[in-house]
Amino acid sequence: MPLTLIKGGRIVTAVDDYTADILIRDGQIETIGRDLAAESADVHDATGLLVFPGGIDVHTHMEGPQGPAMNCDTYESGTIAAAFGGTTTIVDFAYQSKGDSAKKTLDDRVALADPQVCIDYSFHLILVDVNRAVLAELPDVINHEGVSSFKMYMAYPDILMVDDAAIFRTMRTVGHHGGMVNLHAENGQVIQVLIEEALEQGNTAPKAHLLTRPRLMEAEATHRAIRIAELAEVPVYIVHLSAPEALESVVEARDRGLPAFAETCPHYLFLDDSQYDHPGFESAKYVMTPPLRSHHCHQALWRGLRFDDLQIVATDHCPFCINERTMGLKYSKQLGQDNFNQIPNGAPGVETRLVLLYDGGVRSGKISLNRFVQLTSTAPAKMFGLFPRKGAIAIGSDADLVLFDPNKTQILSAQTHHSNVDYSLFEGREVTGSVEKVFLRGELIVEGTQWLGRSGMGQFQKRGASGRIL
Ligand code: URP
Ligand code: ZN
Ligand code: ZN
Repeated sequence: MPLTLIKGGRIVTAVDDYTADILIRDGQIETIGRDLAAESADVHDATGLLVFPGGIDVHTHMEGPQGPAMNCDTYESGTIAAAFGGTTTIVDFAYQSKGDSAKKTLDDRVALADPQVCIDYSFHLILVDVNRAVLAELPDVINHEGVSSFKMYMAYPDILMVDDAAIFRTMRTVGHHGGMVNLHAENGQVIQVLIEEALEQGNTAPKAHLLTRPRLMEAEATHRAIRIAELAEVPVYIVHLSAPEALESVVEARDRGLPAFAETCPHYLFLDDSQYDHPGFESAKYVMTPPLRSHHCHQALWRGLRFDDLQIVATDHCPFCINERTMGLKYSKQLGQDNFNQIPNGAPGVETRLVLLYDGGVRSGKISLNRFVQLTSTAPAKMFGLFPRKGAIAIGSDADLVLFDPNKTQILSAQTHHSNVDYSLFEGREVTGSVEKVFLRGELIVEGTQWLGRSGMGQFQKRGASGRIL
């Protein structure tokens, strides 16, 4: 591979902010310095641009099954979209089916993803069937397969939900081997009662999704998850935290010194529950779990991000088309046209995370530029065992780099994004900040609107221990 030289950019990491050149050889950063020169190098002028470590999105669902539905992004389309948004690594999901071993679950998912992925990747292993044999596999999964995070659901009874005993057993096993459990924290059984009541009363429209998933039940499950983890002596990571009441439990645990962590997502920071008041089926676009909360919740989430009670901003990119015609019923929200409880849960976001957080976080003065890098790249890398290969601009790190124009404005729209999904949560929103060039291990894969990457060029990342941040 030829040498690559990035000249004169303002290098911003989680702690640094300075202007220098970066010399890349064989996919890694070889030198950082002033006035670097290298004959035969591909030179990229980054004057006036910010240089970030590539974004790491630790919560995406590409080609994920959801009952009769399937995410409309493949590993190819979803990772191209991610790359255009400045993300160079995703941690997606391997979905265990009942009866399957952990090893088979991972092998099958790698076989599906590997020929398609355009950026680097790993998986959290979703466990739905926790038995002795599966538990016995987990040390090897962590230490040899390099998968150190396990996702479990406290919601979606009869589909994905596991009981507290399964969570406790898994936590105790993985905690001893450098693993962490990620929880979708909502009280699934109470929510099921509310769903049944809503349907009995004829409330079938998308807004019922909001009304049946109260913040209190997110808080209850978050508290329970953290307490079980405390007993099991394992780090715990709450995914897609949306409710201030749930955040209180995380804060309380962290104040006691426990390794309790949480992520939130851009839609909980920038959108609110008024989206469920759209007429007709339009609101189905916003049927993700947890639902969007009141705008009064935003301030608590931003405070959490500032004070490190929330450590990561991930997207929970889980796209389904709004129109059946786009890709077919299976890939569409229309499965729930007559019943909100059948609407596939999830929304797109993998392409807009960096620009939204830059525009609405950094430019609006809510977080610093260093904190922006910490939340989108460095903390995810540390939390999930990818650091310092990823999440850093340092000698020896992978040359996953984003050249970012802090002054260019753009309008977010499904017309111009790269995901297969046929809508944007942020349609028409003007943001300042733009991803100009993206390098994956030194290879230029995005240049303006041009895609230069290749399907299958992403590499599976064996990860170290999870949850050992700070
Ligand atoms: O709505 C969401 N979050 N969809 C993905 C499924 C889940 O809850 O993780
Ligand atoms: Zn979830
Ligand atoms: Zn999710």
